[in-house]
Amino acid sequence: MGAGAQAGAEVLGPAGEAAYLRIEHVGKRFGDVWAVRDVSLTIAEREIFALLGSSGCGKSTLLRMIAGLETPSTGRIVLDGEDLARVPAHRRPTNMMFQSYALFPHLTVAGNVAFGLHQLRPRLARAEIDARVDAMLDLVQMKAYAGRAPQELSGGQQQRVALARSLAREPKLLLLDEPLAALDKKIRRQTQFELVGLIRRVGVTCILVTHDQEEAMTMASRIGIMSEGALVQVGTPDDIYAHPNCCFSAGFIGETNLFEGRIRDGRLVGADFPQPIVLALACGDLPAEGSAAWLSLRPECVRVHPLAAADEAAAASGCENRAPAEVAEIAYLGGHSIYHLRLPGGRSMIASVPSAHWGDAPPPARGARVQVCWAAPDGVLLSR
Ligand SMILES: Nc1ncnc2c1ncn2[C@@H]1O[C@H](COP(=O)(O)OP(=O)(O)O)[C@@H](O)[C@H]1O
Ligand SMILES: [Mg+2]
Repeated sequence: MGAGAQAGAEVLGPAGEAAYLRIEHVGKRFGDVWAVRDVSLTIAEREIFALLGSSGCGKSTLLRMIAGLETPSTGRIVLDGEDLARVPAHRRPTNMMFQSYALFPHLTVAGNVAFGLHQLRPRLARAEIDARVDAMLDLVQMKAYAGRAPQELSGGQQQRVALARSLAREPKLLLLDEPLAALDKKIRRQTQFELVGLIRRVGVTCILVTHDQEEAMTMASRIGIMSEGALVQVGTPDDIYAHPNCCFSAGFIGETNLFEGRIRDGRLVGADFPQPIVLALACGDLPAEGSAAWLSLRPECVRVHPLAAADEAAAASGCENRAPAEVAEIAYLGGHSIYHLRLPGGRSMIASVPSAHWGDAPPPARGARVQVCWAAPDGVLLSR
C-alpha cells in the first residue's frame, strides 16, 4: 500500500534540484477568511508546476501574491535568492497571463507583443524590440498575423499571442491562471501540448493554475493539490495517483472507490463491504485499533469475473477481497469498459476492465451476476 506523504510534513521540491522559487508559510487573509493558509512549497528552475483545486480554493490568490498583485498576510516568497517582498509588482521578474488574455484591441498582434518591451527599464533599443517581437511571434507561429488586430484571431491564436507577449519580457517565472479556460474543449487538448512544448523550448519556469485535473496531469511535471486554502499534497501526477495521502487527493486525481470504516484486527470493518476488508500493510504501519480509516481502490485494480468461474479466477489471481455483485451499468469505451457494480447491501463500485480481459467469452451484460475481487496490496489505506 502507498506510503503517501503525511499531512503537515515539510513539502520539498524534486530530489537533487535546488529550489528556484521558495514559498515559505505563505497565507492570505481577506477580512475573516483565510483564502490561502500556511503554504510552503519549492519549485525548481525550468519546472512546470500546476496548482490544482476546485473554484475558490485559493489558487489565484497564491499566484497573485507571487506576482505581487496581493501582499501575503504571513510568510515570504523568495525567487532566485531574492525576497520578493521588497520588489513591487511592476519590477518583479514574473509575468502573469490571465484567464482572459486581455490583448489590447487597438494594437496589432506585433504591437501587443512589443507593448511590454517598451515598458522595460533600462530602455531597449528599437531594433532590439523588433527582433524580440519577431522571435516571439516566430516561436508561437503567429508571424504571418503580425499586422492583424486581436479581434481577427481565433481563441487559440489570441492565446498564443498573449503567451508571446508574456515571454517577450524574458521573465524568470511565468504565471498562467487558467490559461486555456477560454478555449472550447476540442482545441484545448491540442493547445495543452502546444503550450507545454513552447514553455519547454523557452526553458522558462512556470506555475500553472487550473481546476481541470486532466489539464494539470497533461501539462505539469508536478502538481500541488489545494483545498480550502491549504496545499494538501504535492507530487508527480503518477505519484499522487498511486499514493494519494488523503481522501481529497484520491478523489481529485482520477476516479476511485472509497471505503470508509474502522481498523479492527488488521482489517477494515464496517465499510459497506460484505466482509472485513483485508489490508496489506505490515502491522506496524496500521492506524491504531478502532480508528477511522479509508481504503482507496482504483477502478483498474478491481477485477470482474463471471460468477461460474469466479472462485478459481479469484484464487488464481491472488485476490483476498471478494464479493458477489450485480452489473448495474456498463460504459463501453473501446479498449476498456467501465462497469458499475452493485454490492449486496446496495453500495456501488466501479471497475475498469480491458476488453481483452474476456478473451473469447462474452462479457457480462447489464443485470448479470458477477464476482468482484481485488488484491490487498492494490488498495491504499488513508487516515483522513
Ligand atoms: N480581493 C478579495 N477580497 C475578498 N475575498 C477574496 C478576494 N480575492 C479572493 N477572495 C476569496 O478568497 C477565496 C479564494 O479565491 P481565489 O484565490 O480566487 O480562488 P481560485 O482561484 O482557486 O478559484 C475565495 O473565497 C474568494 O472569494
Ligand atoms: Mg482563480
